[in-house]
Amino acid sequence: MEKLNLEKLKADVLGTLISKLDLERLSTVQHAKAREAVSGLILEIIADHKMPLSAPEKEKIQSDLLDEVFGLGPLEGLLRDPRVSDILVNSKDVVYIERGGKLEKTDIVFRDDRHVMQIIDRIVSKVGRRIDESSPMVDARLPDGSRVNAIIPPLALDGPAVSIRRFGTGPLSVDALVELKSVSPEMMHVLAAAVRARISVLISGGTGAGKTTFLNMLSQYIPQSERVITIEDAAELQLAQGNLIRLETRPPNVEGQGAVRQRQLLVNSLRMRPDRIIIGEVRGEEAFDMLQAMNTGHEGSMTTIHANTPRDALSRLESMVAMGNMNLPEKTVRQQIASAISIVVQCSRMSDGSRRVMSIAEITGMDENVISMQEIFTFVRKGIGPNGKVLGTFKPSGIRPKFLERLRVAGVTLAAELFETSMEVA
Ligand SMILES: Nc1ncnc2c1ncn2[C@@H]1O[C@H](COP(=O)(O)OP(=O)(O)OP(=O)(O)O)[C@@H](O)[C@H]1O
Ligand SMILES: [Mg+2]
Repeated sequence: MEKLNLEKLKADVLGTLISKLDLERLSTVQHAKAREAVSGLILEIIADHKMPLSAPEKEKIQSDLLDEVFGLGPLEGLLRDPRVSDILVNSKDVVYIERGGKLEKTDIVFRDDRHVMQIIDRIVSKVGRRIDESSPMVDARLPDGSRVNAIIPPLALDGPAVSIRRFGTGPLSVDALVELKSVSPEMMHVLAAAVRARISVLISGGTGAGKTTFLNMLSQYIPQSERVITIEDAAELQLAQGNLIRLETRPPNVEGQGAVRQRQLLVNSLRMRPDRIIIGEVRGEEAFDMLQAMNTGHEGSMTTIHANTPRDALSRLESMVAMGNMNLPEKTVRQQIASAISIVVQCSRMSDGSRRVMSIAEITGMDENVISMQEIFTFVRKGIGPNGKVLGTFKPSGIRPKFLERLRVAGVTLAAELFETSMEVA
């Protein structure tokens, strides 16, 4: 049967199905039982429609409608595919996915804008949020930890748009990152030692560069004996820490009240006796309190920042602090940054879809009015391979970081070869 007719039939069957379902009762019965009952009902309705359908067509209608009633409708199939990392609904009939690092357009269509809205409602209501004309943007997450952003008209001009960023089954392991050539084993070794020795790390990068993934992975080097508090706008970190408290901000309610921001959570977290504080992404006024915390007993705290170079990351941090504290002299702010943070890891999304650590830089102090930084490792691009792959080398600069002294005090000595070994990406 033609695709269009099939869609029409599906919509008809769904209409009948909904009129026959007692949704209230459905939510009270056991999931497996309910699914079975609805399954049977769908087949009955299809039979009533007396349409000439092949067995696979019947099955497709049945499974699509089950997704509709119990899951996230047309998105459910994509969510079942572990290779799909991002799902991007631009409008009711334009849906992109990222699969294996590449963006591609799918042939998925929603019935209409209302259909997209229903799916959004289902996602956000589960986490106690809402979306409507008065608050047309919302962040939420799926039960598996995937992050969801939805934005609707009048802000989104072509109908409701949804962006789902997925996190597979769990955080990428160190081995997986090395295997993917995202970072060299030597670089990982140095960073791991730094994290253990409570040296604060700032992870910088553009959108989707792999910052959060890297933060997640680095956090596993925090000793289990330490108490960690995470602060996020939309929880996505998956720390394996035993002594862990996870905090999440809250948007304002309908009356525009009750919002809890990252800064407030940070201030509160200081009263919770943390050893380290991890802010998912530093975006604004909380930058000042974060630096203070890092300078006063919470060394080894970590965060990510949206920036394209390590230098850019520092200047963004500086403007965030300045925004909330207009009268702090520039030099004071820079001193705060220089003494709070020791390492900047720059991540990047390459043209071939891979993610790579482009540089590990050390902040060494102040030179007059300027924060001084030196590269310890860099990825040097060599060109593009025949299949579009980015080629290059992870290279040590040859400079021994100043923080080696701090590592030694913490009882860690690093082999000299770590700062002499390159890795080819071919
Ligand atoms: N090293 C890597 N190799 C391959 N894929 C990766 C790598 N790191 C992250 N990814 C994938 O890239 C996507 C984006 O990752 P992540 O959320 O960590 O980036 P981000 O920089 O924090 O993004 P955002 O700007 O949205 O905060 C995810 O789907 C993730 O699984
Ligand atoms: Mg992130």
